[in-house]
Amino acid sequence: MNFKGADILSSKQFNRGDIEAVLKMAGKALPYASKKKFGDLLKGKLLATLFYEPSTRTRLSFETAMIRLGGSVVSSVGTQGSSVAKGETLYDTGKMISTYADVIAIRHNEDNSADEMAHGSSVPVINAGDGCREHPTQALLDIFTIQQELGKVDGLKVAMVGDLKYGRTVHSLSEMLSHFNVKLTFVSPPELKMPEGVCRFLKEKNVPFTETVEFADSIKDADVVYMTRIQQERFAKKKDYEKHRNVYVLTSELIKEKNPKMLILHPLPRVWEITKDVDELPGAAYFRQAKSGLAVRMALLMMVLGKSF
Ligand code: NCD
Repeated sequence: MNFKGADILSSKQFNRGDIEAVLKMAGKALPYASKKKFGDLLKGKLLATLFYEPSTRTRLSFETAMIRLGGSVVSSVGTQGSSVAKGETLYDTGKMISTYADVIAIRHNEDNSADEMAHGSSVPVINAGDGCREHPTQALLDIFTIQQELGKVDGLKVAMVGDLKYGRTVHSLSEMLSHFNVKLTFVSPPELKMPEGVCRFLKEKNVPFTETVEFADSIKDADVVYMTRIQQERFAKKKDYEKHRNVYVLTSELIKEKNPKMLILHPLPRVWEITKDVDELPGAAYFRQAKSGLAVRMALLMMVLGKSF
């Protein structure tokens, strides 16, 4: 992919070379992300963050990435304060905002919302989570974290656990991992299985995967266990959420018994699915993972704006 001027909307846009280019650039961004190096590489550039859905890490890491590289940020949070509340389409908003900003990051509760904004926008649009569909920048930072922690991605067994239906991070991550030599295990209640579209994509790419409801035994030989939150806000009935929220809970006891070496990832926020005692284990990488987001988003901003370190 030619990154300069590109929209980042879906994992499906990426081939292996594209992913590796981002990982390489993120490696170069690390000294800036960890406040060891300072520079004005994006001076004069403006990022607009349009977050119609809640976010802490994703929005703040995009904004921090931009500001630490010398750029500036304007931000709109929620729908109430924006013209969407008056009925403006995302197409029109994109068209307008691209006359102000050089790059846009959008999060919205509708599938394909980022695509709609990108149709209107004349500057790169980055999908920071569209409904239950995709979260491609999270998948890139997940893979960057795996590489940083384990030194490789090929040859690994990765188990994804929890709400695989509504959780957009696991959709993007599975599709990105299809370019590596991995074995995937999807652990979920039957009602929250990985969507058919993602499974079809993996089959077409000949990626070996299994689906199961069984938690303890599936994590036994996994190199990476990727836990996810049951996506409360996507359930029409509270009782359906309540039914699932405590089904898969990773505790330090279970890890010690089943597989003390596993690398534990989670896109965060964590709710019930990993107990706090796990945080002390060496494999608990989820806070380091969130930190990696800064380097990866620095890399993406640099690349779509046609810059290099
Ligand atoms: C995720 C998201 O928004 O999809 N959060 C994030 O960006 N790190 C995961 C979640 O909300 O469960």
